[in-house]
Amino acid sequence: MLDLAISRRAVLMGAGAAAAWLASPARALLQAAGKVQVPAFVDQLIGRMTLEERAGQLQLMASAWGGGSALSLNPPGNGSDFAQQVNEARQGLLTGVFNGNGARMARILQTAAVKQSRMKIPLIFAADIIHGHRTIFPVPLAEVATFEPELARRTAEAAAFEASGAGIDWTFSPMVDVARDQRWGRGVEGGGEDPLLGRLFAAARVRGFQGTDLASNEHLLACIKHFAAYGAGESGLDYNVVDMSMRRLREVYLQPYEAGFEAGALSAMASFNEINGVPSTGNHWLMTDVLRGEWGFQGFVVSDYTGDEEMIAGGYAKDGRDAAKLAFLAGVDMSMQSGLYRQHLPGLVRSGEVPEARLNQSVRRVLALKSMLGLFEDPFGRIDEKRETARSMLPRTRALAREAGRKAIVMLRNEGDLLPLPRSGKRIALIGPFAAGAHDLVGPWVVYGDDSKAIDLAAGMRAAVADPGLITVTQGCGVDQPLAGGLEQAVATARAADLVVLAIGESSDMSGEAQSRTEIVVPAPQQQLADAVSAVGKPTVVVLKHGRALALEGAVANAPAILATWFLGTETGNSIADVLFGAFGPSGRLPASFPWKSGQEPYYYAHKPTGRPNPPGELQPYKAHFRGVPNSARFPFGHGLTYGKIEYSGLRLSAPSMPMNGSIEVEATLSNRGKRAAEEVAQLYIHDRVASITRPVRELKAFRKLALAPGQSELVRFTLTPADLTFYGLEDRPVVEPGTFDVWIAPSAEAEGVRGAFDLLA
Ligand code: BGC
Repeated sequence: MLDLAISRRAVLMGAGAAAAWLASPARALLQAAGKVQVPAFVDQLIGRMTLEERAGQLQLMASAWGGGSALSLNPPGNGSDFAQQVNEARQGLLTGVFNGNGARMARILQTAAVKQSRMKIPLIFAADIIHGHRTIFPVPLAEVATFEPELARRTAEAAAFEASGAGIDWTFSPMVDVARDQRWGRGVEGGGEDPLLGRLFAAARVRGFQGTDLASNEHLLACIKHFAAYGAGESGLDYNVVDMSMRRLREVYLQPYEAGFEAGALSAMASFNEINGVPSTGNHWLMTDVLRGEWGFQGFVVSDYTGDEEMIAGGYAKDGRDAAKLAFLAGVDMSMQSGLYRQHLPGLVRSGEVPEARLNQSVRRVLALKSMLGLFEDPFGRIDEKRETARSMLPRTRALAREAGRKAIVMLRNEGDLLPLPRSGKRIALIGPFAAGAHDLVGPWVVYGDDSKAIDLAAGMRAAVADPGLITVTQGCGVDQPLAGGLEQAVATARAADLVVLAIGESSDMSGEAQSRTEIVVPAPQQQLADAVSAVGKPTVVVLKHGRALALEGAVANAPAILATWFLGTETGNSIADVLFGAFGPSGRLPASFPWKSGQEPYYYAHKPTGRPNPPGELQPYKAHFRGVPNSARFPFGHGLTYGKIEYSGLRLSAPSMPMNGSIEVEATLSNRGKRAAEEVAQLYIHDRVASITRPVRELKAFRKLALAPGQSELVRFTLTPADLTFYGLEDRPVVEPGTFDVWIAPSAEAEGVRGAFDLLA
C-alpha cells in the first residue's frame, strides 16, 4: 500500500514538476503576446458535448445570488433565481456568472458544474473590477491624470490580487474608450481624450490584471471594452449612435483597443453603439475582419450585457433568433445576460444557418481560456473563503490607493501660493456637500467597494493638522438641492475662519453608465453656496469632486486655488490632505480638457485649425469660436500646476531636418525657480503644417515626469521618428508625408512652452 502511495505521489510530483517546468515560461511568453494555447483535451471535450451544452458554454449570466449585485448595477435582465442558476450549471447550460458574491457563492456554483454536470466543465466567474475590488483606487480617468501608466499597472495588479482572492477569474476591464465629449458619463471609466495616453494606460492595465501567468490565483483575465468607439456617441448621449470617418476611427478611437490587445488581453466586450449604421454587436467587419484578421486577436468576445437582444430595438435584428445569429456570425463568441445564445444557437445549427464548425470554434476559444486560467487543473484555485478575507484591504493596498489618489490630483490654479495650507495656527472652514460623510467617496462603477470603509475629506484633513479642533465642518447645501439655513450657516462658518476649503462638485451617480449631462457644471445650489461663501472674502480653496471635466462658473471658476480631485476611492481624504497641506506636491495633469462652457463640447485639444483659426484667447470676428467664448479650454489637456515654479527654455533640435529613415532629437531645459520641490510632466507635441489630410493643431507624442528640487535644472530629451509623424492618408492607410512640423515641449496642450520646427525630408 505504502509503496503504491509513494509511487503514485512520485509520479504525480514528477508530472507536475515537468508540466510546471515546461509550461510556465512558455505560458508567460505566449500570454504576453496574446497567444492562446488550445490543449488537445478541449477538442475531445467538444466532440462529446451536445449542441445545448456547447451553446451553454457561450452563455454568461448575472449572478442571481441573493438578488445579485449585478441586478442593481444593470437593468433587470433575464435573470433566474439562484437555485435555478445552480441547476443550469448542473445541466451545462451556463459558462459562468458575473458580479456574484464572493467565494462562498462561487463554491456552490462551481461544485454543481465540476462535480454534478455531465461534462464537468468549470464555470468562469466574472466581475466589473473597474477600479478596485474592496480597496477602491481612484476612478480610471483620475488614474490617467497621474500620467504614470506604471502606477495604473500596479493598481490593476493589486485589484486583481484582491479580486482573485474572492473567487473572481475575469474582470470586465479595462474600459479604454476614448472620450472627447464630457457630457458622456462614462468617460470616468476610461483613459481620457488622447489616443497616446489611452494606449499607454490600456496596455498597463492589461499587464497589471493579467500578470505573466493567468493560471496563478493572483491574476485576472482582462477584457478590453467597449469595442468599439463607445465613447463617441453623438452629443455624448449614452448608448447613442456613432457616425464617423474610417480615418478618425482608426487614428483616434481604435488606438487604445489595439494597444490593449497588443499587451496580451485575451477577451473583448462588444460595445452597445452602432458605427455608421451597423451595431458593433452585429458588425462582422469590426469583430472579425479588424479584430481577428488585422490584429490577430485569439481570445473570445462577449456581448455587453443584452447588446445582442438590443439589436432588435435598434432596428437591426427581427427577433431574438435573428439577433443571436447576427451577433454570433459577426464574431461575438459569448452572450451576456440575454439568454439568446443558449436559447437559439442549437436550433440555428440544426437548421444550418450557423455552421457547426463556427459553434465549435467559439466553444474552443472559451474552453482554451478557461484552461489558461487554470480552471481545468484546479476549478477551486481562486475560491477560498479564508483567502478572500486575508487579502481584503491590506495596509499595503490602502497605501497604494493613497499614493494613486494624491498623484491623481490636479492643481488647476494656485494664486499667491495659497496652497499648501499651513498645518497649524489657522482656523479652517470646511464647507460643502462633500466635506464630510461616507458618501461619494469610492465613486461610480464599484461593485464590492464601500463608502463606509473610506476616509472622507474631514477625517483626512483632521489627521493632517496639528490641531483638528481648528477645522469646522458645515454642509451648506445638498448636491442638487438647497438645505434650509445651510447658506447662512456656511457664511457664518466662513466668517469665523481664516481659510475656507470648499468641497463641491458632482455626486458619484452623476457620472458612470447612463449618466450623460447636458450641462457639465457644478449643480446650481452648490454654485450658490460657492458664490455666497466666496463673497465673505476669505482665502478659498475649491476642492472639486467630479467624474468628468467640468465647465466652471462664477466664484468656483474665479477661486484663487482649485484642486481637481475626481473620485479617489478608499483613501480619498488622506490623499487630498496630503496635497492640501503639502506632504505631497501636486503632480497630476488633466487627461481631458476643462472647457469654458458646456456648449463647447465636444471640446478636445487635438482639434483641427479650420480655415479661420482664432489666435489663442482672442475673439476676432468671423473666426472660429462660439459667441463670447475663446476656442480653447479654460484648463487644457495636460494642464496641472506644482508647488514649484517651472520654467521651460532652450528648445534645441539635433538637426534642422529628419530623413525619412532617420530620427531627430528634441530637447529643452526645465528649471525649478520656486522654493519647493516639484514633479513636472514635460509634454512633447507636434503639428504637421501642410498635409494631404488636414492635421490637428497639436498631437501629443511623448511625455516625461521629472522631479526637480528647488533651483534644479534638468535637460529633457525626446526622440521623434517618422513613425510619430504618421497619419491615415486618403487611402485610409498609414502614410508619412515630407514637410514642416512644429514641435513644442510644453506644460500643457495649449501652453506655448518652448517651440521649434523641423522638416521631414522626402
Ligand atoms: C456595461 C459594461 C459592464 C456590464 C456588466 C454593462 O451595462 O456597459 O461595462 O461590464 O454592464 O456589468
